[in-house]
Amino acid sequence: MCGIVGYLGPSKAAPVLLSELRCLEYRGYDSAGVAVIESGELVVLKAAGKLSNLETLLTDKKPTATVGIGHTRWATHGIPNDENAHPHTDCTGTIAVVHNGIIENYQALCAELTAAGHTLVSQTDTEVVSHLIEDEYKKCVLECNGDALLVAIERAVKRLEGAYALGIVSQKHPERIYAVNHNYSLSVGLGDGESFLASDSVAVRQFTNKLIRLEQSEIAEVTVNGARLFDFNGTFIDRQAIEVDMNPYIISKDGYRHFLLKEIHEQPISMRQTMGKYINHPDKPIDLRPTENGGGHFGNYGVNLTETQLKSIERINIVACGTANYAGMAGKYILEEICGIPVDVEIASEVRGRKPLLNDKTLCIAVSQSGETADTLAAFTEAQAAGAMSMGITNRADSHLSRITDNLMVTECGIEVSVAATKSFTAQVACFYVLALYIAETRKLLPPAEIFRLKQQLLLVPALQERILSQEKIIQQQSIKYAEAHDMLFMGRGINYPVALEGALKLKEISYIHASGYAAGELKHGPIAVLDAKVPVVTIVVPGKVYEKTLSNAQEAKARNAQMIAVATEGDDRAKGIFDTIFTIPQVDELFSPLVTVLPLQLMSYFIADYLGKDVDQPRNLAKSVTVE
Ligand code: AGP
Repeated sequence: MCGIVGYLGPSKAAPVLLSELRCLEYRGYDSAGVAVIESGELVVLKAAGKLSNLETLLTDKKPTATVGIGHTRWATHGIPNDENAHPHTDCTGTIAVVHNGIIENYQALCAELTAAGHTLVSQTDTEVVSHLIEDEYKKCVLECNGDALLVAIERAVKRLEGAYALGIVSQKHPERIYAVNHNYSLSVGLGDGESFLASDSVAVRQFTNKLIRLEQSEIAEVTVNGARLFDFNGTFIDRQAIEVDMNPYIISKDGYRHFLLKEIHEQPISMRQTMGKYINHPDKPIDLRPTENGGGHFGNYGVNLTETQLKSIERINIVACGTANYAGMAGKYILEEICGIPVDVEIASEVRGRKPLLNDKTLCIAVSQSGETADTLAAFTEAQAAGAMSMGITNRADSHLSRITDNLMVTECGIEVSVAATKSFTAQVACFYVLALYIAETRKLLPPAEIFRLKQQLLLVPALQERILSQEKIIQQQSIKYAEAHDMLFMGRGINYPVALEGALKLKEISYIHASGYAAGELKHGPIAVLDAKVPVVTIVVPGKVYEKTLSNAQEAKARNAQMIAVATEGDDRAKGIFDTIFTIPQVDELFSPLVTVLPLQLMSYFIADYLGKDVDQPRNLAKSVTVE
């Protein structure tokens, strides 16, 4: 979704801002803009559409300014056009603001400002901010002994309701950029005589590894010499920059046609890294506690739940959206199977407005690749407010999620650029196995030999994934036969039901083919009505408790002439008798099968979407992290 960047230093700001904005493209956006201070004058350039449109404007105007802020906007209030693109200025045209998040009381503020004589030109909720600062600045210049602009910003932001991050420049102070964070994410990067700003630290990591993260309700005054931090009352906050590991955040396709394909192929490594962090050896107890250096992460990291707390968990409540929600559904099967603790999985956006039935014996787990998904964060904070213990599973230790819980498992996937989640899904599911085994160890729920066996099985999974990835060419040929389909059904039972949902989501996200996932047993209760010879049905069927029943459900589809596709185990002769196409997977314990069965489905979606010429990495209408409810 929206992205904020900034630069201040000896170089020309425009190319740096553009380069930062390029790093944020993956988040999804529909317009972009910059504000620079050119020879003492504020200049705003912005354009709807891709960054290339903004780049054309910048090439035309060739600003030489060395200070500026930039933004990629994903429209929420007002259509994606030039006018609504950020930055937004005040009536004097001297203050510019870029904004992520939502100003919930913008309509009241807009009415107040308009009545006071301000002219607001956009339909956004953002524009009120520049006008509020304008008003406060006028007053502060007369009243304040201190720094008028800083105090004006403090006063203005106190009037805002909602969660937001802001970047602000004023032509009166071309030597500074201001950054404001309130329940959002914003980082300052410190270089040698230059400073950077970004809402996603990925944009800054290309220039420096020294980062300062703004915490809740903080303002940073950024100059070429560093950043001074204040709370909203102007109290100085002493915080040093942290040196971070830049490697996992290098954005590169590494020779792959698309990020998506690269990320599908990265799964064995991200799984190994994620599990390896917590499981040293199957013989040794799992360790989820924080490591001294924060695991090289920029942000919180580690699980601080005490043994007493772990033993007191009576129920687990998982909140997440989209793919992360399906990882959570797999987590339910895993935790219930290994720990025998009842687990509910909630679509995070469905939690709002409901009676919270949680207490201090409930562990609420938020699962979010980005750690920034507004629906997930809202559900999670409601659970915390109801007294539940809380824990996050995220790929971003520097995210908002990491700020609001002391218990964080981090998936070691590196940056996931493609909008469609792949490697984060398997790494999240891997975290659930690790967590379940950790709880089982702590609560002595299984004999040590069984825990040892399960750990061993889990650690073998990346090698099985590699075998599937090595069959990529066969999967490609098998997949594109179905590229002309208009509808596709995915079904699985038990622990592979979430995989069916994920398979369907992947296909529709990147190929735009309508697809639905079902619990295989549900087919006969309705969805079977849509089946005919034109509808491919993908069945996930692995040996185990639900094998026979799943095959029966597949027979029901076959009897309706559906095109039959399966993800099935090598050498499964019964599957061969039912399905037209089989994506074969190696033998795997049913309990661990989601980590394997999902791979052919990811590849199938990728190959179909690529065959159809779709924008696989940045599908239409989608954003990588959805930061509005
Ligand atoms: C996955 O392919 C989607 N892009 C989407 O469903 C995503 O999983 C969802 O928006 C949640 O994102 P998060 O993991 O960053 O919270």
